[in-house]
Order: sequence, then C-alpha cells, then structure tokens
Amino acid sequence: MVKKAVLAYSGGLDTSICIPILKEKYQCDEVITVAVDVGQPAEDVKQAEDKAKKISDKHYTLDVREEFVNEYLFPLIKANGDYEGYVMGTSIARPLIARKVVEIAEKEGANVLAHGCTGKGNDQLRFEAIFRLTDMEVIAPMREMNLTREWEINYAKEHNIPVTVTTEKPWSIDENLWSRSIEGGKLEDPGYIPPEEIYKWTVDPALAPDAQLIEIGFEDGVPVSIDGELMNGVDLIERLNHIAGSHGVGRTDMIEDRILGLKARENYEHPAATVLLTAHKDLEKLVLTRSELKFKAHVDSEWSELAYYGLVDEPLFDDLNAFIDNTQHRVTGTVTIELYKGNAYVMARTSPFALYSEELVSFDSQSINQQDAEGYAKYHGFQARHYRRFISGE
Ligand code: ARG
Repeated sequence: MVKKAVLAYSGGLDTSICIPILKEKYQCDEVITVAVDVGQPAEDVKQAEDKAKKISDKHYTLDVREEFVNEYLFPLIKANGDYEGYVMGTSIARPLIARKVVEIAEKEGANVLAHGCTGKGNDQLRFEAIFRLTDMEVIAPMREMNLTREWEINYAKEHNIPVTVTTEKPWSIDENLWSRSIEGGKLEDPGYIPPEEIYKWTVDPALAPDAQLIEIGFEDGVPVSIDGELMNGVDLIERLNHIAGSHGVGRTDMIEDRILGLKARENYEHPAATVLLTAHKDLEKLVLTRSELKFKAHVDSEWSELAYYGLVDEPLFDDLNAFIDNTQHRVTGTVTIELYKGNAYVMARTSPFALYSEELVSFDSQSINQQDAEGYAKYHGFQARHYRRFISGE
C-alpha cells in the first residue's frame, strides 16, 4: 500500500526533520506539508513555505486568520478564557490547525497524519484529539524517537535542511495572533530571570512611555472597535497588540500544570489579550446579574480547561458555548482602559444594557426609601445568630 502522509508543518527544526524521517523510518512514499497561518509573523510563514518547497513533495500554506479570530478567539473572549493565568494562545489554535491538516489529508487521499510534537507537552494531545477522529494512521516521530537536539541538528545537516537554532538562542517559540510563548534553554530553570531579549511584542514596562487611554467597543461580547473606529477582528487584535505592547502590557511568567501533570516554567506575551479580557470581564460586571456572574465564572473555568486540553469536540464544550452565547447579547458597550507601564487599568465603562442605576445607588438621591431596608436587616444573618446564642448557652 502506498503511504501518503500529511504533516502539520511550522518550518522549525522538529517538523523539518520529520519529512526525511517519515520517509526513511516510516516508509512513507509521499510527504505533504501544511503550514497554517494563525497570525505568526509573515516571514515565518514565508520561510516555512520556501523550506517546504525544497524538502517536501507538496506544500500548502493556508491563511486561516479570520476563521481563527471569529470561530476560536471570539468564543474565548466571551468565555474569559484563562487557564491558571495563561491566556491560551497555543491551545486555542491547535484544534484549528489539526482540522485544516485533516481537511488537506482528505482532499489528497492521504492515509497518514503526522505532527512534530514531543511526548512531554500538551500539543501532541491537542493534535491527536482531532486527528484520531479519522481512521488514518497517526505518526509522531519526535515522541517515538526521543531525540536530542544535537542528533536533530546533525541529521538536518546531513539532509541539507537549513538549521536556524543556535546554542546562544535556544528558545522554542510559538506565536499566533493571541499570544507568543517562549520556552527552553535557561528558561527551564524557574529560578532564572529571563533576559529582555526573549520578548518581541512588548517593551520593558520600566521603559514604557506615559499613560495612554484607549476605548474598546464591544457588541454581543466581542470587540468591534478601538477609539470608535470599527475594525474586523484580525486588524483589531493586531492593532491592539501593537499599542498595548508599546506600553509593556501583557507579559506572563508562570509555573503551569501541563495536562500530563508536569509543571513547566512558561513565558508569554499577549498585549491585546490582556486588554480585551480585562475590558470584557469588566463590561460583563456592568450588564449581567449577580447570579449570572457567579454561575458564569464556573462555566468559564470549565470552558477554559476543555480548551486547554484541546477537547473542542467534547459535547460539553458546545453546551457551555450555548450558555455563554446566551449571556453575551447584553455585553455591548465601551470600556476605557489606561495603558501604563505594563498595566491595563479599567478607567470607565458604558452600556445601554447596564443594570446599574445611578439614580438608585447615589448618596444624593431619595428614590429609595432607606427605612424599607430595616425589615431585611432584621432577618439578615438570622440563623447564624440563633446558632451563636445556642452555643453560648443563652
Ligand atoms: N504551555 C503552552 C500550552 O501548552 C504553550 C506551549 C507552546 N508550544 C510549543 N510547541 N512551543 O499551550
């Protein structure tokens, strides 16, 4: 049987050496590469394409940025997506990348799906949660072969694959519109202070300029404008990454619990995500009821865990999205944020659906008869007082 493989391809060392490995070790007759553009730097996409054209049998580059924003990032914003304090850039993109790889494999009549993830991380699980919906064979050479970096570099050189990683810059980077993650090298020591050079989207907060106000407009839970200017999602996120990044907003240095249970030291930058999630949460507080907010916090955390695990085909994920969508019709309005030296502070918010009444809450108004509250006050804590009297023997 002819073995035809489709490989999720980034242009990096691991996925590049997967091409000859799939042929030599796994007897694949043909290897087709797919690079999925989810907003990583244009030069990376171009570099992956140029490289693939030399070393794979056929290559596809798919620009899915719009779909990524509308079908994945907007639901994430509505769900206040957050896993242990991580904004989930890599995790939210993996299912989409995997689905696109499967689409190409089906179109090409392939019978093998391959990825370059190791056996230590989360991405192998996210890819395979989608890949295994098909009956195609799944091959993960990096996981199976347990290779060292040195072996990989030598193997690449033997196969005329250009190598860009060096021992001075050993960072493993994953980037998309929502976030940039930096791992590896000395960063693997959680006691090591990261050098400034790992950051590309954010300036050093200490060197950031004076404060800047920015107004984000939301409609039905998703951002639609910056300072009143309507924009599509891709442009809005790109613009905001630039503006907030110039104020040093959106750096995270954390210990993260991977799905397998391994603790990892992770560094991220995600300026737009910080601003949008901060603004969205604040607007929800203005328009949703106390009960809705309390229940939704729980729904959001379940949603985030499923998304982090890459389990987007889980029916519960659809159920949670249905609940979340139903709450978002009122999440319309504006939030004004001050960007200042690494921080994004909410300064003001407005909404036609605000459940807030200045007339009722104001110190200066007489429209609530305060004496009405006395009856409530008499019963507030009623059972607790009974209990206290009981145990003190009164
Ligand atoms: N820890 C993050 C996650 O699991 C980022 C992983 C980055 N992945 C990578 N292949 N470099 O989502």
